[in-house]
Amino acid sequence: MNNNPIEVSNSKDLVKGFGEVIEYMDVKSPNDFSNGFIYLAKSRRSIRGFKDKDVTKEQLMRLIEAAQSAPSGGNCQPWHFYVIKDKKLQAEIKEKSCHQDWILTASAFIVVCTDAERSASRYGDRGKNLYSIQDTAAAIQNILLCAKSMGLGTTWCGAFDEEKLSEVLNLPKEYRPVGLIPVGYPAEDSYPPQNRRPVDEIVTFIE
Ligand SMILES: Cc1cc2nc3c(=O)[nH]c(=O)nc-3n(C[C@H](O)[C@H](O)[C@H](O)COP(=O)(O)O)c2cc1C
Repeated sequence: MNNNPIEVSNSKDLVKGFGEVIEYMDVKSPNDFSNGFIYLAKSRRSIRGFKDKDVTKEQLMRLIEAAQSAPSGGNCQPWHFYVIKDKKLQAEIKEKSCHQDWILTASAFIVVCTDAERSASRYGDRGKNLYSIQDTAAAIQNILLCAKSMGLGTTWCGAFDEEKLSEVLNLPKEYRPVGLIPVGYPAEDSYPPQNRRPVDEIVTFIE
């Protein structure tokens, strides 16, 4: 990650950093961004429109390395990642993904699968039904944040027909697709505003 100091405009919610300009951020003061990670986490948005610009295999492999670094229950690593650049296959996947046409503007898709039996063999039902899903969720979030740090945009998509997507990709029967991530360079106007429940509503401190 680029740790160069981040310029923050005091005027209004305009933050420059990591080689790009992000608007719409809920920035209270430059100190909010003294730590590069919080900038990254707060500035990531779901991107639903991409430039017509290729994301290279090398870049995509970086994202997979980030995913590979995620924690997993008992280090079972139940994940498998399909990286799809083939446009014909992307179009078929789109048909099984609630017709979210915008995903076709992405350069690549990453389909994240879990092999729940890997976790079940060690942790039984808890491994199968909980850890195997949590593990892939952690991997997906690593991909989203790594992409953001590289100036790329993503969306975590869960709206697809699992069975039909499995057929299109000819997945081994033990693989369950749990996430579809279109990846590309964000189109200029593709950053929606930050919209979060207030922290004091979502946290309970017990001291
Ligand atoms: C499990 C999950 C499934 C999602 N599925 C979709 C989806 O199918 N299509 C989509 O456009 N966004 C999808 N999203 C993205 C959410 O809509 C988005 O994260 C949320 O609105 C917050 O916006 P932000 O990501 O820009 O912060 C999904 C997110 C998660 C975590």
